[in-house]
Amino acid sequence: SKFQLWGGCFEEEPSSVLRRLNDSLPVDFRLFREDIQGSRAWAEELFQSHHLSANDNLAIQKGLDSVEKEIEQELTENGKLKDAEEDIHSVIECRLFKHSGDAAFRLHTARSRNDQSATDTRLWMLASLPKLTSAIVELITVLATRAENEIDIISAGYTHLQRAQPVRWSHFLLSHAWALRDDVTRLEEQRSRLSRCPLGSGALAGCALTIDRKRLALNLGFDDITPNSMFAVGSRDHLVEFFNWASLCALHLSRLAEDLIIYSSQEYGIVRFSDQFSTGSSLMPQKRNPDGQELIRGAAGLFLGEAFGFSCVLKGLPSTYNKDLQSDKELLFRTYDRLLDCLKISAGSIRTMKVNIDRALNSLEPGMLATDLAHMLVRRGVPFRKAHHLVGTALLRATNLGLDLRNLPYSEYIAICPEFGTEEELKAVFSWEASVEQYTSSGGTARKAVINQLEILHIWLQKY
Ligand code: ARG
Repeated sequence: SKFQLWGGCFEEEPSSVLRRLNDSLPVDFRLFREDIQGSRAWAEELFQSHHLSANDNLAIQKGLDSVEKEIEQELTENGKLKDAEEDIHSVIECRLFKHSGDAAFRLHTARSRNDQSATDTRLWMLASLPKLTSAIVELITVLATRAENEIDIISAGYTHLQRAQPVRWSHFLLSHAWALRDDVTRLEEQRSRLSRCPLGSGALAGCALTIDRKRLALNLGFDDITPNSMFAVGSRDHLVEFFNWASLCALHLSRLAEDLIIYSSQEYGIVRFSDQFSTGSSLMPQKRNPDGQELIRGAAGLFLGEAFGFSCVLKGLPSTYNKDLQSDKELLFRTYDRLLDCLKISAGSIRTMKVNIDRALNSLEPGMLATDLAHMLVRRGVPFRKAHHLVGTALLRATNLGLDLRNLPYSEYIAICPEFGTEEELKAVFSWEASVEQYTSSGGTARKAVINQLEILHIWLQKY
């Protein structure tokens, strides 16, 4: 079998249809750097523990350098590898024979593709996931910067998508920043379980040659080693954690996207996306569609599907390595690439969108101050439940007269309840600014409380 590392006892080639399903090179070529990094460390460890001569180690190290350079070049030129081998591990080992000669036959000593591919994937994740962190931090920074600049804008806050209470626009923006801050923290919390090196676990039983796994792991930049060889080659829990993490992060992006889609509709008109982050219609010349946001919203659904799909792959598998596990990388790359794009689109869209201050103000209406009127009564000693009812009575009266809470005559209020105070006092309630400024409690929408959120967020951002 000329394309396989395992052909010794086979007389026939695998069928082409099996090869199509089995071959993973079109996906796992992306692990070539990590595979070479792992092989360098493995050869070095074999040498350190006296299972490989200095000369053979040197030949392997040099050969791996050459293989890395040629693969890098081919990928820049063609975007893919044309090798006939089934996976990146086979490609690199086969190419090494050409550069290092017989020494290459010693590289795979006491190693299996099971511990090798598990190691590569973990190395790739350790190297790549920080880019997601940076992209989230960038998005948080964009939200915080806008929140700082737009702290004077007051707009409608909604529950059930019904006008609820006035809030600072900044407060709304920061509500999304906090969810994303937790996503960063959550990803960090998974790192210690990811940063364990499986190398030296062999196919499943461990390593029959004396090696120092801890030294090997530290050389590769891992924090620790996997504690059990059967667990090491069969566990993909770090991927399950990652897929579920990505789903939750995307869910946050989706909620933000959905809010902005609504705000960008003509009915709201609060947000206008830049040309860079909008698309048009092939038929209707006037259209400016928020496709980027819609794709983000859709992607969140796809990530949930990937997370669920991969857990379904694991469900029912026996212990240790089974080929079902090979799908981890396809889902990993797809989720990673798409999430990174979503984060960048979200940050770019929000950085470049225009906020229409007048439309934001227009989203407010006097009914949204009903709660504040009730609070005014509460401050004058009326029990809240009664105050709620009295303001409700005023609302009903206003509606029946074809009025709103602001232009309902003072005499009507006083007839309902004398605690509505003087005409001046009552009038003072009808100010958006005065309304939001009451909410001074930590995490509230008053200027002071929003600035405090910004301060806490900025201190946190300094770590990144
Ligand atoms: N391409 C395989 C994977 O990524 C490598 C491990 C193959 N091992 C095996 N015994 N077939 O899962």
